[in-house]
Amino acid sequence: MRILNIEHVESGMVLARPIYDGAGSILLGAGVELTVGYLGRLTELGYSQVYVETPESLDVEIRELMSDEMRRQSIATVKKIFNAKSLDFEAISRLVDDIMDEVFATRGVILQIFNLKDRDSYTYQHSVDACCLGIGFGRRLQLDPIRLKKLAIGLLLHDIGKVTIPDEILNKPGKFTPEEYKKMQTHPMAGWHLLKDCDDLSPLSRAVVLQHHEKWDGTGYPAGLKGDEIHPFGQIGAIIEVWDALTSDRVYRPKFQPHEALEYMMGSAGRHFSADLIKKFLRSVPPYKIGATVKLSTGEIGVVVAVDTEATMRPRVRLLDSPIERDLATEIDITVTEVL
Ligand SMILES: [Fe+2]
Repeated sequence: MRILNIEHVESGMVLARPIYDGAGSILLGAGVELTVGYLGRLTELGYSQVYVETPESLDVEIRELMSDEMRRQSIATVKKIFNAKSLDFEAISRLVDDIMDEVFATRGVILQIFNLKDRDSYTYQHSVDACCLGIGFGRRLQLDPIRLKKLAIGLLLHDIGKVTIPDEILNKPGKFTPEEYKKMQTHPMAGWHLLKDCDDLSPLSRAVVLQHHEKWDGTGYPAGLKGDEIHPFGQIGAIIEVWDALTSDRVYRPKFQPHEALEYMMGSAGRHFSADLIKKFLRSVPPYKIGATVKLSTGEIGVVVAVDTEATMRPRVRLLDSPIERDLATEIDITVTEVL
């Protein structure tokens, strides 16, 4: 299986992974032959990439932090939790245990998930994806399991305050007016208020909810905290939240490729994020996903088949229509010039 941007998909190619809508129903099943009509509809719905099966990618296995099934169930559970009258901490704790089990079963897997999102369920999907990525990153930071779970709960709930923001603002395709932006910025505090009577919730989890939009240089919200005034879990929350948002399709723009998102985040080190923490994060995320179709400086096209967790910038690439693999870790004069 391999990943292709929709503009590079040819009609007749076979879909390798189902595409779900926000309610968890299958829009297009695996094995479906993609037609011009389907591709047009997917583009209209805001999807920019699909997983396809082509003869030369049949044995490329994509290992990720979370299975499609686990993600689908988690999104449904989060939706229930966010919309319930009172906070069900038991349900939150159980869900986070399940996601942690799943992530821990994937030893040596880079921070990669299939973070497909749609407009109506964006917040629930983003909550699950952020939780999962945060567990993967926290594991790389060697947090002990008890603290890691508190981080994960914080990330699962970080945007719960968005339930107080009207849908017209949340799903607005264009730019916010100053009033709308102000309203959006109330969500960390609104989340904190929604959670304040939940005695089981750790202050560490609350820090993620309240501080995930604070910025290292003090230009964030709600409190404009600076540097180490921001709790380490708030700092991690900020990084994970921006990474997942940038690498997801939004109503107002298609997703950034990981290498583009990495460049943005590197540029924001020391301004939006702690430089030290961002360095660690950048060592944990690959600029090219396993399964990505890439063009090399040799003019050859291939599929990323492996990424070393110690050298994420230099993947191994299997050329299309050939058994040859280029290992960029050793073939240092070859670079990736384009992600297709
Ligand atoms: Fe947020």
